[in-house]
Amino acid sequence: KPSDTKWMMDAHALLHKFYHHLLLNTKEGQEAYDYITGRGFTDEVLKRFGVGYSLNSWDFALKFLSKRGYSSQLLEKAGLLIEKEHTAEYYDRFRNRIMFPIHDHKGNVIAFSGRVLCEGEPKYLNSPETTIFNKSKILYNFHQARPHFRKLERVILFEGFADVIAADGAGFPNSIATMGTSLTEDHARIIRRHVENVTICYDGDNAGVEAAYKAASLLIQQGCYVRIAMLPDKMDPDDYIRSKGPDSFKQDVIGASLTFMSFKLLFLRRGRNMKDEGERIRYVEDVLKEISMLNKAVERDHYLRQLSDEFSISLDALKEQQFQVYKSLK
Ligand code: GTP
Ligand code: MN
Ligand code: MN
Ligand code: MN
Ligand code: MN
Repeated sequence: KPSDTKWMMDAHALLHKFYHHLLLNTKEGQEAYDYITGRGFTDEVLKRFGVGYSLNSWDFALKFLSKRGYSSQLLEKAGLLIEKEHTAEYYDRFRNRIMFPIHDHKGNVIAFSGRVLCEGEPKYLNSPETTIFNKSKILYNFHQARPHFRKLERVILFEGFADVIAADGAGFPNSIATMGTSLTEDHARIIRRHVENVTICYDGDNAGVEAAYKAASLLIQQGCYVRIAMLPDKMDPDDYIRSKGPDSFKQDVIGASLTFMSFKLLFLRRGRNMKDEGERIRYVEDVLKEISMLNKAVERDHYLRQLSDEFSISLDALKEQQFQVYKSLK
């Protein structure tokens, strides 16, 4: 007798195939198809990522899978159905959404994320945590990206599914994303087990910058070499690739990525008026703190010189103060 795990994965596989068919080949899926192709997703891309469409119905998945022998209780445990309170009646979780299948690292479909057509709340509806879907360990597109890690010696980490899909089309098949949540220590450990170099490419808004800072720290703790690619504010990688093209993305975003230290220096500047003397001094002090935490003397020297040039402060004075900071941090 197959285990619940096997049943749940098979149910996802069946439903996923049908959602995909609905999007590509049916009149019911036409509006969804127009929306997603209008965003630049070609048929080839929709196929590569298995994108689908869930009908505007309360019981499509319920009937489709019941007919094939799946019990409602099991489908509820798999996150595909929701039980009306205390009634033993069930309805479909996903209705009238663009369906992004989520795969485990072996390529089995184990969950979905459904996007509304155009505007609406929530924008993305995810499967709940189940016995086959652990959000703090699953990374979107990991199964397709993994074979490219070795050749390209790098993984690129994004915030959104659309970003991964756009980057893949722009010549970066080594692209992954979290499930709309922050990167966890488990994620960082899994990434490090497969690849050493990580480029973080999050949205160009405040939330994206904050999240990039945290993700970089976790990845560095696990021994990764991290670079951070910055985007203009109000743009995400998908927007950027659509409006500026793959070449500019490659050169001006990924190619211009920063080391964590350079990123931190930018981070410390945010919201500071550098024309104000007091703020400038506080900035220099914060930078000295960061420099003190660097392990390599060569690196410390490099950033001290940079600071000395930028603010016309003598290198000796900076070195002396950095030593004070260093002692106070011990
Ligand atoms: P598009 O508007 O389709 O381009 O999406 P996006 O990827 O740019 O979305 P956004 O930058 O707002 O969010 C990044 C990621 O966070 C998405 O890919 C989702 O995984 C997740 N996310 C966004 N909105 C929601 C939401 O309403 N609920 C949940 N659970 N996750 C969300
Ligand atoms: Mn959002
Ligand atoms: Mn965002
Ligand atoms: Mn985004
Ligand atoms: Mn987007």
